[in-house]
Amino acid sequence: MNVTIISASTRLGRQTHKAALGLLNYLQPFEHLKPQLVDLAGYRLPLFEETLARHPDPPQVLLELGAILSQSDAMLFVTPEYNGSYSPALKNAVDSFNKTEFARKAIGIVTVTTGAMGGVRAGLALQHLILALFAYPVPQMLLVPAVQNKFDDEGNLLDAAFEKNIASFVKEFLWLAEAVYEKRNSEMVKI
Ligand SMILES: Cc1cc2nc3c(=O)[nH]c(=O)nc-3n(C[C@H](O)[C@H](O)[C@H](O)COP(=O)(O)O)c2cc1C
Repeated sequence: MNVTIISASTRLGRQTHKAALGLLNYLQPFEHLKPQLVDLAGYRLPLFEETLARHPDPPQVLLELGAILSQSDAMLFVTPEYNGSYSPALKNAVDSFNKTEFARKAIGIVTVTTGAMGGVRAGLALQHLILALFAYPVPQMLLVPAVQNKFDDEGNLLDAAFEKNIASFVKEFLWLAEAVYEKRNSEMVKI
């Protein structure tokens, strides 16, 4: 199962990317998973002009990211909370495609803050965005408060106690992601 982790902070000096790397590290040992990290800071998508399907001259980065999203069976959106919502880079990226890249796929929500709250407002807003994509938000979210104390720059855990939060979230994510993946596969076989 192809799991794409979207690292959605593009800020200089960002902290959220540490959590995205932490999720990648956590998923890599699962033999049935092919986790892949998409770093939106690296892609530098242009400010939204038109969706990929309708763009008269799509930029190469849009084509590349579209191919990865299309091949994804499930996704994790890892976002900072900015002013009570998710990152504008994530909305810009999502709007650059059609629902088809996301629809009928499970999407897990990971929100990140340096403060104590962990970004629950961003998470709730993301649930609405994911539903608008006709995708399935995993009901359990992973909130990462005080991220600077949780992960180092390579995504290694600094706080061993936080591993149980990750494990519990990943268990719920995989439960839904695998169910949806199997259903999608069975339909593809019939066709
Ligand atoms: C523009 C902006 C708005 C922010 N708004 C919030 C917020 O609403 N709630 C919160 O807990 N932290 C907020 N923060 C702090 C973030 O939690 C902090 O930047 C954290 O490290 C995650 O974002 P990063 O990936 O940009 O580092 C904000 C930070 C910025 C730059």
